[in-house]
Amino acid sequence: MDKTLLIIKPDATERNLIGHVISRLEKARYTIVAMEHMTLTKEQAEGFYEVHKERPFYNSLVEFMTSGPVVPMALKKENAVADLRALVGATNPEEAACGTIRYEIGVNIEKNSVHASDSDENAAKEIAYFFKNI
Ligand code: CMP
Repeated sequence: MDKTLLIIKPDATERNLIGHVISRLEKARYTIVAMEHMTLTKEQAEGFYEVHKERPFYNSLVEFMTSGPVVPMALKKENAVADLRALVGATNPEEAACGTIRYEIGVNIEKNSVHASDSDENAAKEIAYFFKNI
């Protein structure tokens, strides 16, 4: 079955929304196959978002992602990547569709509460970044 990676970001853990996000995921029929509660080092955040290195928001993004605990998790479901992108909503919570997680709890385009892999290829890479033997 397909897998994808979701990260609950520091703006959501700070507001005690870990359970809320997990509940949304389980109601959408995802199975959590691996999960960790951790604070990223600068190097881990930089490595994870390496693809955005040249973007003007990169340094701020790394600072935000290391500002508090995050909860990366590997999720399993048929059509996992596309279904999770739909459930999570647009990057900017102001543009996210009603009912999506980012519409509900996102703060702004940076503090958008959750990360979701954008392709099967990136899902495999991102799961391997956090979890071995998955
Ligand atoms: P995410 O889906 O984790 O992928 C990259 C992240 O960079 C994104 O969510 C936001 O947290 C952040 N991001 C993307 N675009 C911007 C932007 N224009 N300004 C600030 N942060 C951004």
